[in-house]
Amino acid sequence: MKRILLLSMSTLLVALLMQCSGEAKEDLSYQEGVLTKAKPMFATIPEQMPGSENDTQARIDLGKKLYFETALSNTGDMSCNTCHDLKLAGVDNKPTSEGTNGIPGPRNSPTVFNAGFHFVQFWDGRVADLNEQAGGPILNPAEMAIPDSATAVNKIKAIADYEPMFAAAFGDNSTNFENITEAMAAFERTLLTHDRFDDYLNGDLKALTKTEVEGLELFMNKACITCHMGSMLGGNMYQKNGLVKPYKNLTDKGRFDVTGLEQDKFMFKVPALRNIALTGPYMHDGGMSSLDETIIMMGDMQLMQQISPEEASKITAFLTSMNGKQFVTN
Ligand code: HEC
Ligand code: HEC
Repeated sequence: MKRILLLSMSTLLVALLMQCSGEAKEDLSYQEGVLTKAKPMFATIPEQMPGSENDTQARIDLGKKLYFETALSNTGDMSCNTCHDLKLAGVDNKPTSEGTNGIPGPRNSPTVFNAGFHFVQFWDGRVADLNEQAGGPILNPAEMAIPDSATAVNKIKAIADYEPMFAAAFGDNSTNFENITEAMAAFERTLLTHDRFDDYLNGDLKALTKTEVEGLELFMNKACITCHMGSMLGGNMYQKNGLVKPYKNLTDKGRFDVTGLEQDKFMFKVPALRNIALTGPYMHDGGMSSLDETIIMMGDMQLMQQISPEEASKITAFLTSMNGKQFVTN
């Protein structure tokens, strides 16, 4: 009796397995075809960020503490995390960020996750890398508003916890502004994500749903990839915001304000699209709250391409597959 039961159970199992693999094969040829087209355009997020070779654990630990340090703001209640909340995928989800004075600044806060992979930092690329970037917000009157670097260093020196941490990270008597920013940058170089699109690029054809793959195909066919490509789907060139039609808000002239060159008017760094579904509102001024509408506008404004609401929702589905796994809770 037992034997018969076992036998029939195993037959059932075999039958089930056969059915599954049969179905799977049939379904995935589309996903496979799109993957072949996608592979030359994109890349998985690397395991290490450029410049992280000398980042010791002591520097990373110190940088993490500094990242959350509210003493580095004139009012004592703002840290990097206020505008780049690590629990909110590295942003504040506001159109534009408010400084300690409570006045909204001119620009939307981009995510700190994967930022070290971009070819330059900020919407207009005015600083080269994370090290150079980290000092800026502390001393920016519209952000943390510390009057000068000596004041910032004194505030850190006044907190006893820090001395041994700086000693472990950089040696004795090393509490200075350069090391504050170096440690913060070391911590930021640990802020990377991996997502289902990476799994798909690595050959896992089931990592994306059919709709998400259709969205990816549209993203390629509509030529979004002329600007949004590579491992970040952006972050590797400047392009004009409003290439074929002007954007609705022309206050911010982007790179022009850095270089003064006519050809740089409305040029911005092409933003990376990893985690984009989590980092709204969109655009340098946070002027767009819906991702679908941003996609439709991009088609119209950058490419003279009509994108239907249905196509936009598929592209959104694809973009959502790039939500970092650490932010996705089931
Ligand atoms: C008051 C809000 C606010 C605070 C506080 C703040 N930031 Fe930012 N951050 C922004 C905004 C807004 C931008 C975009 C500015 C621009 O492009 O002109 C930005 C840009 C960045 C970028 C560039 C990312 C990219 O994609 O180009 C990095 C990195 C960054 N901040 C890290 C930090 C660190 C580290 C701290 C703490 C020392 C910090 N920020 C504090 C609002 C803030
Ligand atoms: C000619 C280059 C170019 C093309 C083509 C292009 N984009 Fe963009 N994209 C940009 C630039 C530049 C920005 C930043 C604009 C700004 O805020 O000033 C941007 C912004 C975005 C944003 C908002 C990002 C953020 O962080 O707020 C999304 C989403 C986006 N693009 C998706 C798309 C999609 C989808 C397509 C195809 C339909 C596309 N883009 C085509 C250059 C381009």
